[in-house]
Amino acid sequence: MDGTKLDRRRALQQIAQTASLCAVGTLSSARGAGQPNSLGMAVEVLLGESTGTIKPALYGQFAEHLGGVIYDGIWVGPDSKVPNLGGIRRALVEHVRRLGRVVVRWPGGCFADAYHWRDGIGARAKRPRRFGRWREDTEPNQFGTHEFLRFCRLCEVEPYVAANVGTGSAEEFQHWVEYCNAPPGRTTLADERVANGDREPFGVRYWGVGNESWGCGGKFTPEDYCTQYRKFTEWLPNYGVNPYLIASGPNGNDLEWTRRFFQKWKDYARAPLNGWAAHYYCGTTGHALKFSLEQWYEMLEKANRMEQLITDQWEAMSVVDSSHRVKLVIDEWGCWHPPGTEINPRHLLEQQCCLRDALCAALTLDTFNRHADKIDMANVAQLVNNLHTLFLADGDKFVATPNFYVFEMYRPHHGAKGVRLEVSAPNVGYRVANGIRTIFRVAGSASRAGRDVTVTLVHSHASEPAALTVLLRGGSAANVRQTVLTHQTLNAQNTFDKPDEVVPRSSSTSLGGSTFVCKLQPASINRLDIRLA
Ligand code: AHR
Repeated sequence: MDGTKLDRRRALQQIAQTASLCAVGTLSSARGAGQPNSLGMAVEVLLGESTGTIKPALYGQFAEHLGGVIYDGIWVGPDSKVPNLGGIRRALVEHVRRLGRVVVRWPGGCFADAYHWRDGIGARAKRPRRFGRWREDTEPNQFGTHEFLRFCRLCEVEPYVAANVGTGSAEEFQHWVEYCNAPPGRTTLADERVANGDREPFGVRYWGVGNESWGCGGKFTPEDYCTQYRKFTEWLPNYGVNPYLIASGPNGNDLEWTRRFFQKWKDYARAPLNGWAAHYYCGTTGHALKFSLEQWYEMLEKANRMEQLITDQWEAMSVVDSSHRVKLVIDEWGCWHPPGTEINPRHLLEQQCCLRDALCAALTLDTFNRHADKIDMANVAQLVNNLHTLFLADGDKFVATPNFYVFEMYRPHHGAKGVRLEVSAPNVGYRVANGIRTIFRVAGSASRAGRDVTVTLVHSHASEPAALTVLLRGGSAANVRQTVLTHQTLNAQNTFDKPDEVVPRSSSTSLGGSTFVCKLQPASINRLDIRLA
């Protein structure tokens, strides 16, 4: 840490200690309902220090042919009694539209490297049934390219299609691009698309070249994968859509994969490359819903490692790409708990998500916001009936998890300019078997769009509220609204019977000026909507 930062931190601490508790938040909680702790807790919002535009694509989703994601989650079929739009679950579409203009990645995941796109076009009754890769489920191919693109149009999101490097060919990939993007009448593949019901080109811009090529995508060495990458991306049809090409990046923060790929990439002429896709699953502490206090903090600590991954990978990439033309893409992230909480045993890798997962999501989105200059896209795994899921669906039942509400709460950041947020708060100490560990108490991000400033904050303390001094540098608040997502129970979740257990609550406050104090509930996610005077 440099000296300037240290001085700023000391100043922040002094201010926080002397600031008076002029207002409190709006929700009361039985947990820690006592006097909030104000010692040393402050955030400074540096309105003049931009950290880059926060692209809506950072709030992306991922939908793979796996378990109950596509079949049941998205696709119920046109003859289903479940309300649908030409076979696509209506409730899901209505909710995804609330997320803004995000990106959805499809068809995998590991599934992508065994998927042949021609299986999923043409009359649905005639499509082949294939080995489904996951648990030998049969893949009926009822949901293919046209259905996915229709889903994206209905939801008003951008498609991101992952190509098959593992068992496919460069030619097959290039034909897929042509099929999707060539104008009608221009090629035989374009005519086939028209005959299959879509006259206008799909205009798919985001293309992934393989998935986890170090693992289920073929167990390549970085060098061998780079050779494949070159073949796949050479002479790709363009048709007026400048493709954004994404290479399969590291498993977590594996720096060797990144260094070796980039070394090979620069060996001779560089293949076109826009995004470098890392996957980071922060894992579990043993169970989705049953956990101790120690495991509450441990899970947050694991989610917080995204910060290190981004800075380390960015630095490794800069060795070869010093001007940073290639950006990071985090196209799989989230908690991954062991089996046991599925709502339907057919839904492989499905898990129930509670308040703790919501804090992990908020923490991760704040991390992306802070690094908006480095990341072009991120996709949580996965949209529905899966790991860090936003929705659970089973037949005609449907519910939004607390994760969904985090994504919706953070929407005002979309398209806004990230501004630097300095946090000063003492760490929380928590007991572990062999001593005490510490973790951040407050983390967050801030952005600005004209006179509107959005500050989002995660308060990790499981039982005590906090009084947080907010210092606006370069502006003064005319009014402040606070939205809070929390619950008295740390593992609270939304169920089919109780869908509104964990939902955000908003209220206006009497806060204002360039310094004010707000209350953070224990275990909470907070959004401050600040209108500048
Ligand atoms: O999201 C589930 C799986 O996790 C994906 O298919 C794969 O890419 C990752 O290992």
